[in-house]
Amino acid sequence: MPRKEHIAGLDIGTTKVCAVVGEVDDEGDIHVAGVGSVPSTGIRKGVVIDIDATTGAIEDAVERAERMSGAEIRGLYVGVSGEHITSTNSRGIVAISRGDHEISAADVERVVDAARMAALPASDREIVHLLPRGFVVDGHDGVRNPVGMYGARLEVETHIVTGTSTVLANLLKCVQRAGVEVEEIVLEPLASAEAVLTSAERELGVVQADIGGGTTSIGVFTGGGLCHSTILPVGGHHLTSDIAVGLRTPVAEAEKLKIRYGAASVADAAEGELVEVFNVGDRAPRVLPRRVLCEIIEPRLQEICSLMRLQIRRSGYAHLVPAGIVLTGGTALLRGIAKYVSEKLELSARVGMPEQLGGLLDAVNSPIYSTGVGLVLYGVRHGSTKMVRTTNGHGILGRVRGWLREVVQGA
Ligand SMILES: Nc1ncnc2c1ncn2[C@@H]1O[C@H](COP(=O)(O)OP(=O)(O)OP(=O)(O)O)[C@@H](O)[C@H]1O
Ligand SMILES: [Mg+2]
Repeated sequence: MPRKEHIAGLDIGTTKVCAVVGEVDDEGDIHVAGVGSVPSTGIRKGVVIDIDATTGAIEDAVERAERMSGAEIRGLYVGVSGEHITSTNSRGIVAISRGDHEISAADVERVVDAARMAALPASDREIVHLLPRGFVVDGHDGVRNPVGMYGARLEVETHIVTGTSTVLANLLKCVQRAGVEVEEIVLEPLASAEAVLTSAERELGVVQADIGGGTTSIGVFTGGGLCHSTILPVGGHHLTSDIAVGLRTPVAEAEKLKIRYGAASVADAAEGELVEVFNVGDRAPRVLPRRVLCEIIEPRLQEICSLMRLQIRRSGYAHLVPAGIVLTGGTALLRGIAKYVSEKLELSARVGMPEQLGGLLDAVNSPIYSTGVGLVLYGVRHGSTKMVRTTNGHGILGRVRGWLREVVQGA
């Protein structure tokens, strides 16, 4: 029987912790072999606030995914999220002074190092990703791999993502305590993008927004690469708690109402439609127009849209995203959300979910699993089995990312 390779992703979300096992067959096709998802209680706004609870949830999720797939999970691609994540673009420039002017792998490392040095994070922060957005050789841009080319000056444009060291260390501690190794830490919007964006959208320019329970993560892609990323501390939980407060009903009941009858806009509720609402305490349920529920949801969604709009404008790429916005994460399941976001952001919008996969696709065929599936795809497409230390070599994340390894090894 042909040997199959297994790659696993772990999405540690605010509402659920989810492990996904992918299987790569001889043809290089990726199949979903197993999924384990358990409610998350130790995460707030994308960040670990309870190590024991999170460790327990990871153990459960991994065990379920192992049972379903029949594979043993040794290492995981782990998603990272939270407001502590910041990103910046940095340019590096070096001269190729040797006589033949032929650019070598060492020159590429040197120029990337120069970009990193130009954006060196504060001592309490770690670099999570150092992504190249393209090389420039003697003023000619759009070079994907400069190794072997002739040139006197080499430049690189990079996107650098950093996170707070202690927050990242807590995340790693939970995974390690659950008895699994961390292959690599991957920014959540970068992972989700692997599962939901087409390469045409990335090339053309697109915004990806993952609206989960406690966070909304935004990634802007142009020319194929990530050029802006940010994580906002708002999500579906806020819609639910607004409903709970507004209708004086328990949170669990508010969540059910949102999922069953909620909609993005008041205009989506037909005149005369009624919903039954249970009260806090044991009093008999009330009957309210569905419109009242949507009147609570819409303003909060509008606020999330305003924050997204501001971020896209601040990124400086607002005019460079003709492919519009792709929504994913659990809140993308809200009725009418694509239309609403499209109107508010004046961009075309669609809901994206994991696609182009075989295997147990039904088990992950929801925007809720975009990050988990995306982590597997990231691992297969860019992941590392062989780690190389960066020259700064510091700390828990001192690893050269897949792309650099590809450039260097391809030389
Ligand atoms: N049909 C639905 N309509 C509206 N909202 C929904 C629906 N289904 C799920 N949700 C919401 O999606 C959210 C969970 O999404 P998701 O699983 O993507 O979050 P998460 O990854 O755990 O959190 P985060 O990414 O913010 O850390 C919850 O707030 C839930 O109420
Ligand atoms: Mg999420």
